[in-house]
Order: sequence, then structure tokens, then C-alpha cells
Amino acid sequence: MANNTDKPLNHVAIIMDGNGRWAKKRFLPRVAGHKQGMENVRNITISANRLGIKVLTLYAFSTENWGRPTEEVNYLMRLPIDFFDKFMPDLMAENVKVNVMGFLDELPPKTLATTKRAIETTKHNTGLVLNFALNYGSRREIVSTAQKLADEVASGKIQSSDIDEAMFSKNLMTGMFDEYQDPDLLIRTSGEQRISNFLLWQLAYSEMAFTDKYWPDFNEQDLKDMIDQYQNRDRRFGKI
Ligand code: IPE
Ligand code: IPE
Ligand code: MG
Repeated sequence: MANNTDKPLNHVAIIMDGNGRWAKKRFLPRVAGHKQGMENVRNITISANRLGIKVLTLYAFSTENWGRPTEEVNYLMRLPIDFFDKFMPDLMAENVKVNVMGFLDELPPKTLATTKRAIETTKHNTGLVLNFALNYGSRREIVSTAQKLADEVASGKIQSSDIDEAMFSKNLMTGMFDEYQDPDLLIRTSGEQRISNFLLWQLAYSEMAFTDKYWPDFNEQDLKDMIDQYQNRDRRFGKI
């Protein structure tokens, strides 16, 4: 339980959007926004951990973001390296455990190696799970889960009638989080109100909260305000 009220808030997912516009507003190159956004990942991670959230999933790079200019893509692929170089001591001090999900074999080798090392270094930590969605796309995730289960049917390991919602969920990239695999709350910054191919299955009953603030400006108080909003909502799950 994340706070004093009675509604569980275990998994928060954030579409960290608006880095480019944050920079543009300041007449800076887009990558300056990404750098500031990276600093903010540290701050919000620490806040979320102290608020008792169990899993924080951050959309860092989508399967569609490869379509951006090469220099920007290169910068974004360098960011996890800088992030872990700079903030690993903080993550360790805060007992944060790192996880990364996405189509990881397509990452540049150095980015992949650094994220794997961060996962390894923090694997015994018992605080918040900081879960980066890196080269993640939800439709592709769903298709690859379908392929995996189809292979298991073909090899006789399971029967098609064994496939149910629980099995499907378990085989998605969030399956490892067990009872926390679906976000309770989805936040998107920057004023856009769309999902952009993020966690399509997992968000079926998530509450959604939007803010006009750009990601680099989103702070602990904003997070608390959104949690308050969440606490005042009535999650009915189709019931009355
Ligand atoms: C979000 O900020 C970060 C990534 C998608 C990697 P954007 O880069 O999308 O910023 P805007 O939306 O252009 O302002
Ligand atoms: C979503 O933001 C992806 C991430 C935050 C990593 P985008 O900026 O890529 O999404 P669109 O293009 O506005 O839908
Ligand atoms: Mg954007």
C-alpha cells in the first residue's frame, strides 16, 4: 500500500513526454530537454520510492522513436549509460532495483551492456522497481507473446484452450511483476492525451492522469497531486 488511504497504488506508469518542447521554449537543442528529463528520472524515482510505490514503469524510448533524426536517436541511446554512470550511487542508497523491458537485442551493444550491468548491480535491492521501457512497443509485445504461445501449442507444451487472460498476462514483458503487472495509474506529461503504443493490454483498467507540464518540469508535488486525484477516484472494474 502506497499511502494512508485504502486504495492500493502499487504500479505507476509514466509517459515522459515534452522534453523537446521544454528545450524549444528555452531556445535550446532538443537533446538539452532529454538531458534535463534524465535528471528528472532520478528525482521522480526517489519520490516514488519514498511514497511507497512498488513498480515505476517509465516509457523512455518507443519502437517508433527510431524514426527520429539519427543524432537525436544516438543521444537517446547514450542516455541510459549517462544515467547509470551518474545515479547508480543514488539508486543503491535508495534501495532501488532496476529493470528494463523492450526489444533489447536491438539496442546498441554499449547501451545494452550498461543496462544489464545496472540490473545485475541492483538485483538484491528491495525497494521500488524502476522499470524502463526501452525500445518498447505494445502491439509488437502482444504479437510476440502470441507467437511464443503459438510455438508452445505447436510443440505440444500447452493446448490452445489453456491460453487464458492470466497466461497471456504472465507472458507479456510485465509478467514478472506478478500481482503488480498492470499499472494502477498512468500519467502522461506534456498535454498530449494518447497512449502512443504503451502497455495497451496492461492499461485496461488503469486510471489515467494528464498534465500540461513538460516532463523536465514534472516534480514531486505534481506526482503527489496526481496520487491525490487517483485516491479520489472510484475504480469500479465494471461492477457497481
Ligand atoms: C519525450 O519527449 C522523450 C522521448 C520520446 C524519448 P519528446 O522528445 O517526445 O518531446 P516532445 O514531445 O517533442 O516535446
Ligand atoms: C511517447 O512519446 C514515447 C515516449 C515517451 C518514450 P512520443 O513523443 O514518441 O509520442 P507521440 O509521437 O507524441 O505519440
Ligand atoms: Mg513527444
